Amino acid sequence: MQKKSLLRFTTTGSVDDGKSTLLGRLLAETGSIFDDQFAAIEATSKRSGKQEVDLALLLDGLSAEREQGITIDVAYRYFATQKRNFIIADTPGHEQYTRNMVTGASTAELAIILIDASKGVLTQSRRHGFILSLLQVPRLVVAVNKMDLVDFSQEVYEQIVQDYMDFSEKLDIHEIFFIPVSALNGDNVVSPSPNMPWYERETLLHHLENVHVAADKNLVDFRFPVQYVLRPDSTFRGFSGTVVSGKVRCGEEVAVLPSGKKSRIKKIVTHDGDLEETRIEQAVTLQLEDEIDISRGDMIVRPHNLPHASNHFDTHLCWMDEQPMTLTGHYLLKHTTRTVKAYISHIHYTVDVNTLHRQEAATTFTLNDIGRTEIKTAQPLFFDAYRKNRGTGNFILIDPETNRTVAAGMIRGEAISIQDIQKSTQTKKSSNVVWQEGAIPLTKYVERNRHKPAILWFTGLSGAGKSTVAQALLKRLFEENCDVMLLDGDNVRHGLCGDLGFSINDRSENIRRVGEVAKLFYQTGHIVVCTFISPLIQDRTIARSLIEDEQGFYEIYVKCDLDVCIRRDPKGLYSKAISGEISDFTGISSPYEPPEAPEIVIETDLQSVEQSVETIIRHLKDSLFLFS
Ligand code: ADX
Repeated sequence: MQKKSLLRFTTTGSVDDGKSTLLGRLLAETGSIFDDQFAAIEATSKRSGKQEVDLALLLDGLSAEREQGITIDVAYRYFATQKRNFIIADTPGHEQYTRNMVTGASTAELAIILIDASKGVLTQSRRHGFILSLLQVPRLVVAVNKMDLVDFSQEVYEQIVQDYMDFSEKLDIHEIFFIPVSALNGDNVVSPSPNMPWYERETLLHHLENVHVAADKNLVDFRFPVQYVLRPDSTFRGFSGTVVSGKVRCGEEVAVLPSGKKSRIKKIVTHDGDLEETRIEQAVTLQLEDEIDISRGDMIVRPHNLPHASNHFDTHLCWMDEQPMTLTGHYLLKHTTRTVKAYISHIHYTVDVNTLHRQEAATTFTLNDIGRTEIKTAQPLFFDAYRKNRGTGNFILIDPETNRTVAAGMIRGEAISIQDIQKSTQTKKSSNVVWQEGAIPLTKYVERNRHKPAILWFTGLSGAGKSTVAQALLKRLFEENCDVMLLDGDNVRHGLCGDLGFSINDRSENIRRVGEVAKLFYQTGHIVVCTFISPLIQDRTIARSLIEDEQGFYEIYVKCDLDVCIRRDPKGLYSKAISGEISDFTGISSPYEPPEAPEIVIETDLQSVEQSVETIIRHLKDSLFLFS
């Protein structure tokens, strides 16, 4: 007996367009079990006597969501016919929101868009078509439903087909199939309709059973994001996860990202026994020949077929939260099995879904907005363009406060600007460098210094008193025999960062370099005092994320009213900035984003220098010092 193929599809529509009726009819007329999906799967497995009924696929979808700690209303329903097995990503409830639909569609090979014949093509039908094209769902079926309400009129049907064709021509859709149905009465769902003799093509079920799907999967690029490291006893060490794309055989050479270490596949373990070769979308545990340090979020690939690595992406984004997008806060970006901090660094445009025109003046995304943005992440991701590999090209954004999924995204590629190109021709990243491990472990420094290492990051407006307080603090720490080190904005800009100005990009680069230097000193036990305006939250958060134990990073907000800074004007720069003599001056012609949750706040317009130092010392005493 030939293996039955599997089709994953999803359905989208507006409220009351009869989606549930249609699904109900498909399930009922194919004699499928409507109940509990696990029972259904087991029953069908037994009936077909095959392992092919892919329990893991179904579980994957559910467990992945559970693991993200998010609740998305997607139920995976299962049914089978003689010809094919089907998984429907059903998205009940809140149908007015795109959120569930995007989640359901992200793994679908086909999507049914329901259009109510009595209402015609609505904005929602267009929005869904557009999202499905961005999601690269390869096939669309436009089911014009409720044909009974328009007396099964061929004219009404053809007008809707024409309207939708006019719209969809501008979309990137490979295949689109139109069908007039009445889900309520069953016309053209499973059996041909006697009410629409003018429709001579196949029924919906016949189409679903016969549509060709095998070719869309990425069978070439082996990508295995590690979900868990299994170590049940000292003799077994395995890496569990799902094969996102491609395949690998026992004995084949693999590389692990980000370390780049290589090994060979020793064993491919599944709950049904060991395999010679993996299959796409299969949950497996891989054992390697060598002991390599691998953790969750790493990716196992072939050494000659690598994904891209970047922390700056050009993306399509569908916004799914009532709370509009913020450009100042950060989000958590979940990509394969990795979750990293991320920022929207630029909005290119949103799209009017009715006309497909770009709104380039957009400054935010609100509920249901779709468009193009640039995103920066605190750590690099290993990715492929979504177009090439859906599994390693998609991501979601989570609001860290509410834990809600706020957006679904597709990576178009690495974001590059004219400046990047200019820079890359001037400076070259060094390759072939290997990180040197220190001979003295950090604990030895801590023991000797009798304090933990720390980065004390002062941020605030020019003239707020960062350097003044930092110098007094440095002196105090020195007297306490601490191993201290200072990085100050004005000073590093004379040498290390002498090539940088005050544009947003230059400031980011300034902070990046300083963050890296601070990290090196941190790793050798120092208390590193950094005083930089560092006006952007995202730059400061990136600096924080550079050190492994973020507990060692103290953001100290040197708070001072802008008017007070202008009055102080210690270097005469504010008056120059106000008269236009200097451009991009923080607080005057360039933004300052105050910290959202700094570890320490000092208010220099209210406290003296000594009081500020005391506030800081008091805060550090408990966590940093081993004396006292
Ligand atoms: S940051 O924005 O990149 O963090 P940083 O702290 O290194 O700035 O440098 C700020 C110092 O540069 C200020 O104290 C001031 O003396 C000087 N400066 C010169 N031009 C500017 C400007 N346009 N904006 C801010 N500071 C400036």
